[in-house]
Amino acid sequence: MKSKVYIETFGCQMNVADSERAATGLRKAGYELTQSAESADVVLLNTCSVRERAERKVFTRIADLQGASGKKLIGVMGCVAQLEGEAIFDHSSAVQMVIGTRATDRIPLLIERIQNGEERALDLGERGDGESWEISPVERHSPHVAFVPIIEGCNKFCSFCIVPYSRGREKSRSAREIVTEVRRLRELGYREIHLIGQNVNSYRPRTQDGQEHVFGATAFSRLLRAVAETGMERIKFTTSFPRDFHPDIVLAIEEYPNLCDWIHLPVQSGSDRILKAMRRGHNSEDYRRRVETIKKSKRRLSLTSDIIVGFPGETEEDFEQTMKQVEQCEYDGLYIFKYSKRAGTPAANFNDDVSPAEKTARFLALESLQREIQKGIYRSYLGRLVSVLVEGQSARSMADMTGHSTCHKVVNFRGAATLEGQIVDVLINEVKSNSLYGERMS
Ligand code: 5AD
Ligand code: SF4
Repeated sequence: MKSKVYIETFGCQMNVADSERAATGLRKAGYELTQSAESADVVLLNTCSVRERAERKVFTRIADLQGASGKKLIGVMGCVAQLEGEAIFDHSSAVQMVIGTRATDRIPLLIERIQNGEERALDLGERGDGESWEISPVERHSPHVAFVPIIEGCNKFCSFCIVPYSRGREKSRSAREIVTEVRRLRELGYREIHLIGQNVNSYRPRTQDGQEHVFGATAFSRLLRAVAETGMERIKFTTSFPRDFHPDIVLAIEEYPNLCDWIHLPVQSGSDRILKAMRRGHNSEDYRRRVETIKKSKRRLSLTSDIIVGFPGETEEDFEQTMKQVEQCEYDGLYIFKYSKRAGTPAANFNDDVSPAEKTARFLALESLQREIQKGIYRSYLGRLVSVLVEGQSARSMADMTGHSTCHKVVNFRGAATLEGQIVDVLINEVKSNSLYGERMS
C-alpha cells in the first residue's frame, strides 16, 4: 500500500491551487490523501514567504510536527522551498524533501527517491513542457467555487516583493486550456470561478488559440470575454496590476453580467516618491485615472486594494498622501500590511528606517480611516438586493448561512443548511464592519 499524504497550505490562492494540483498528481500516482497530519505518513507544507511572519510560521510548524511525529516524511513546498532550497535541510533535520514552486507535478518521484533510501530530495526546477494543469474535483478546496490559474510568476520586480524570485517569470496558459477547464467546471456544477494569477491582466498567451471568436483590446480582456461566453454563472478575477489595467476590462464587465462586479487593484502607497522607490510603474495620478474608469462604470463595481505602510524612507507626509488616496478611492475593502524586509529584494538594501512603533501607528490610523469609509459604503447596501452564493453555515450561528455576493462581500442570512451551493437573493437589512446581513427573498 502506498503512503498517506497530508498537505497543509499557507498563503495565497496560487498556493491553494498548487496544493490541489499536487494532490491530483499524488492520487493519480496511487497515494491516498488524508485530512489530518496525525494520520499521514507524508506531510507536505506548502509555504508562503511574502512577509517575514508568514515564513516564520513554517518553521514553527515543522518544529511541532517534528515533536509529534516520530517517523513522518516531511516535505516543504512553495515559496519558502524555492527561495531557501538546500538551506532548509540545514535549518531543520526533520525535513527530507524541498519542492520548489514549479515542481508540484514531480512530488511522487521525490517521495519515491526517499522511500528508496535517499536521505534528501530537492527539486527547484522549472515546469516541464506540456505538464498537465488538471485538478481533480475531489481535490478542490470547495465544491462550489474553483480557482483557475491563468498566469504564473511575475516580471514586475516591485522593490519590496519576493514573488518574482519565488515564482519566476510570467507564464500564461493557453486560452483554449482555460476555457475548456471552465466549461468542465460548469458541467461539474461549480457556480463560481476565480481566474487567478499574481497579475491576471498581464496575461499574454503565446497564441490566440481558444479566443478567436471574441474581441478585446488586450489579451486579458479578450480572455474575460471568452470565459464569460462559457456561461459559467459567476466569474471573478484577481489580482489586477494597475499599470496594465486597461479600460476594456471594465467594458467587458459591462457586457457580460456573469463577469462579477469586483476589482482588486493594489495601490501600495499614495505617495509618488514612495511609489517610485517601490518601482511600481505607476504614480498616484495614473492610479486615480484607473479608479475613475472603474467608478464611472454603468455597473456599480466594488473596489479593493492592498497598501504597505512604513516602506523605507516613508515620511509622515508620504503617509498623509496614502491617507488621502484612500479617502479618494473609497475602497470597499483594504488589506493593510506593515513593510517587512525580504532578503534578496532591492528594498532590502534600503534603510528600514520607519520604527516598528511608527509602522504600527500608521497601520492603526489607516485601518481606522478605512473602517469609517467602509461603514458608509456598507450602509449604502441597506435595502438593496444582492445575489449570494451560499458556501456554508455561518461560524457565528447555526441558524445562519454564509456566502459571498458577486461584489465579493461576506453576506450572512437566516436559512437552512440545504441551501448550500445555491445562489440566492438576499435583501440587506443590517451592516457589520466586514459583512452584510439580510433576509433571503424567495
Ligand atoms: N512587506 C509587506 N507587505 C508586502 N506585500 C508584498 N511584499 C511585502 C513586503 N515585503 C504585500 C503587498 C501585496 C500583498 C499580497 O502583500 O501589498 O500586494
Ligand atoms: Fe510582487 Fe509587484 Fe509582482 Fe505584485 S506585481 S507579485 S507586488 S513584484
